[in-house]
Amino acid sequence: MKRIVYDEAAIASRVRELGAEITEAYPDGELLVLGLLKGSFIFLSDLVRKIGRPIHVDFLVAASYGDAMVSSGSVRLVYDPETILEGKHILLVEDIVDSGRTLNHLMELLKERSPRSLEICALLHKHIATELRHPTRFGGFDAPSEFLVGYGLDHAENFRHLPYIASLQ
Ligand code: IMP
Ligand code: MG
Repeated sequence: MKRIVYDEAAIASRVRELGAEITEAYPDGELLVLGLLKGSFIFLSDLVRKIGRPIHVDFLVAASYGDAMVSSGSVRLVYDPETILEGKHILLVEDIVDSGRTLNHLMELLKERSPRSLEICALLHKHIATELRHPTRFGGFDAPSEFLVGYGLDHAENFRHLPYIASLQ
């Protein structure tokens, strides 16, 4: 661990703001918050407790085809929510946007199910070489282009449990 990039207090205060933004952005309709596992599990559990309107929560598990070192771009769903998406507001919650390829594929898959709206909430956004075709409607922090761990983010499955976000570089 080289340095702490976002400590517990900074994360908690930003998550509280995001929860308020989300509450305000959805005055009506059914809202389904979909957490992308595993990376979003801590962020999602903190975020939903800061949303002050009725919601449903479910998860998505995606796996990229091919080697995990480089995002191949092609994604398949390993766990697909049972819930019907049609007519609902869907908020896809991701830990970090890097190349954006994972989200590009997931957004196309989810669009086909005719939700009332479909938006992305990402705790971190690297904003470098991103190929993301969909804007991140709710974003936590503009992250440095370093490898980050903690608060759900892993390196080879390690460090997910850290209560802060740190850089490995
Ligand atoms: P993308 O498809 O390139 O945007 O990849 C996004 C996924 O790569 C995230 O959901 C993370 O699982 C992983 N990832 C990207 N950057 C980092 C990082 O700095 N630390 C940990 N995981 C990362
Ligand atoms: Mg991930």
